[in-house]
Amino acid sequence: MTNTTTADSAKPIPGGTLVLVEFDKGIAWVSMNRPEKRNAISPALAFEMIEVLDALEIDDRCSVVVLTGSGESWSAGMDLKEYFRATDKLSYDERMRVYRANGTWQWKMLRNYGKPTIAMVNGWCFGGAFTPMIACDLAIASDDAIFGLSEINWGIIPAGVVTKAVAGVINQRDSLYYIMTGESFNGVRAAEMGLVNQSVPADKLRERTEALARTLIAKNPFVLRQAKAAYHMAREMSWETAAEYLTAKADQTRALDPERGQDKGMAQFIDDKAYRPGLGEYKRG
Ligand code: COA
Repeated sequence: MTNTTTADSAKPIPGGTLVLVEFDKGIAWVSMNRPEKRNAISPALAFEMIEVLDALEIDDRCSVVVLTGSGESWSAGMDLKEYFRATDKLSYDERMRVYRANGTWQWKMLRNYGKPTIAMVNGWCFGGAFTPMIACDLAIASDDAIFGLSEINWGIIPAGVVTKAVAGVINQRDSLYYIMTGESFNGVRAAEMGLVNQSVPADKLRERTEALARTLIAKNPFVLRQAKAAYHMAREMSWETAAEYLTAKADQTRALDPERGQDKGMAQFIDDKAYRPGLGEYKRG
């Protein structure tokens, strides 16, 4: 099912041109769709992606977003022609508007997304594409996907916010090695460095990604949302501030969780002896 309306949602999902959406039992498979341009990110794709992500956040058919690419690429990064050469001719204000659209979906929306996100890296992943890939909560790559911080090869630094994103997940030696050499590497190496969670043979990529998405769908969605927000915030804080913040966040989670997960989980473990939190989740519903 691609970009259609069902009884579950009042509005059709936008997109359908440069961004495709396919629903499958709670998973929204979202594809950057310019295969003939290796899914290079153009301004039009960015504007379409903003609308799609915005709509999916409140669409009942979507519990998890999987971000991937049509054809043999995840994404060849920023469209050199449409994002760089074409914008050279624009006024400063017009250029900033286009750049802002890119930052909006690539990290402001994805890093703070209410639902879990998984990058399924199925092929080429270069430069600017690192930002949305890293901004997704989790990432699974094909062993033979090819990654590269190729900016140095064409005379620029990894800007936008690529360098910052890379520094958040890869250690200093490996970050600088790939930033400075522009050498490409495969999915196996990406997993070794912690750039993705795991790499698997190409023919197992969708299956593994779907299994991970189903694991997330089984969890309490409100607590998942709070947990990932807490991670991003606490990471930037001192221990003292983090302790205060996390206590307040935990209280907020308990107070606002529509499922009353904490109380339920506790009762099922302590009173009913019905499950082991170390071995799986409490019985929801
Ligand atoms: N921006 C604009 N166009 C791009 C692009 C990009 N980042 N990446 C690929 N394309 C276009 C090519 O210009 C070509 O267009 P054309 O058919 O009109 O000539 C088409 O996509 C296919 O690319 P091609 O290079 O022929 O494919 P390939 O399979 O041989 O190589 C890559 C794939 C990804 C290795 C190669 O396209 C590449 O190096 N792209 C640039 C990657 C990069 O440095 N990205 C960083 C941007 S921040």
